[in-house]
Amino acid sequence: MNHLLSIKDLTQEQLQGLLSLAKKIKANPAEYRHALDGKSVVMLFEKPSLRTRVSFDIGINKLGGHCLYLDQQNGALGKREPVSDFAANISCWADAIVARTYLHSTIEGLAEHGSVPVINALSDLYHPCQGLADFLTLSEKFDDVSQVKLAYVGDGNNVAHSLMFGAAILGAKMTVICPPGHFPDGEVVVQAQALAAKHGGSLFLTSNIEAMGEQDAIYTDTWISMGDETDMADIKAKFGPYQVNAALMEKAGANFFMHCLPAYREVEATAEVVDGEGSLILQQAENRMHAQNAVLVTLLGQ
Ligand code: CP
Ligand code: NVA
Repeated sequence: MNHLLSIKDLTQEQLQGLLSLAKKIKANPAEYRHALDGKSVVMLFEKPSLRTRVSFDIGINKLGGHCLYLDQQNGALGKREPVSDFAANISCWADAIVARTYLHSTIEGLAEHGSVPVINALSDLYHPCQGLADFLTLSEKFDDVSQVKLAYVGDGNNVAHSLMFGAAILGAKMTVICPPGHFPDGEVVVQAQALAAKHGGSLFLTSNIEAMGEQDAIYTDTWISMGDETDMADIKAKFGPYQVNAALMEKAGANFFMHCLPAYREVEATAEVVDGEGSLILQQAENRMHAQNAVLVTLLGQ
């Protein structure tokens, strides 16, 4: 493993290995407090962040490393100078790059032109660190993640893509329900379905919310992602039937609700569900740090 650009690049063994290392680091952080001694990580963020920025910064610190945060004020990627120069220069000083960008191709450019590991902290196409934290969370709730029935309801976005790859590689059963016109990327669907078939899982997509079936957990995300200029009034009209509420949770028999956050209460999910007993949102948020630390230790650890 040289980078973490997408979960799709991981073998089942690598993915399971990251989840089990994350559990070890979470259970015994003192054992890893020198894992990144002398290592510096540059974090490039084109978009806002609470969880990703804070969990990487504090996580790197807990592993004994140092991190430097660069936002748009330090020169938008590819504008003041080409992405290739950014990557090559940062590689002169830093040991890894964590990047949150609009375009996934920017992250690929950093990996291509730099000489240090690149970790995708969210792009328009994927959010692998979120997916890892989510499967870590599910693996804390279920002994065998491959038996989990996970439904994703809402916009077929970056978070949905990473969940689809994670579920497929782990051999889990995933249902994705999106309004017409808001399905996940077609190529991602084909690749994830092939991985699901290879690993004994399944990936079913529909726009019929009535076809939900029995689920262990229902996951949703914002209906409008960062960088999407679509009008909320139009989106609300289209997505209304896809709101995750108590009736939907009950109908699916789902004990758990998941969301990557930030959550818009009474939009993609009701406050009753987001803040309810079965909500895993804070466990997911906490696990961002442990999952990312497993990635950092794997890529940089000594
Ligand atoms: N879930 C997530 O990535 O949150 P932030 O956008 O706050 O980093
Ligand atoms: N899909 C959302 C996730 C935010 C963490 C976005 O890209 O804005």
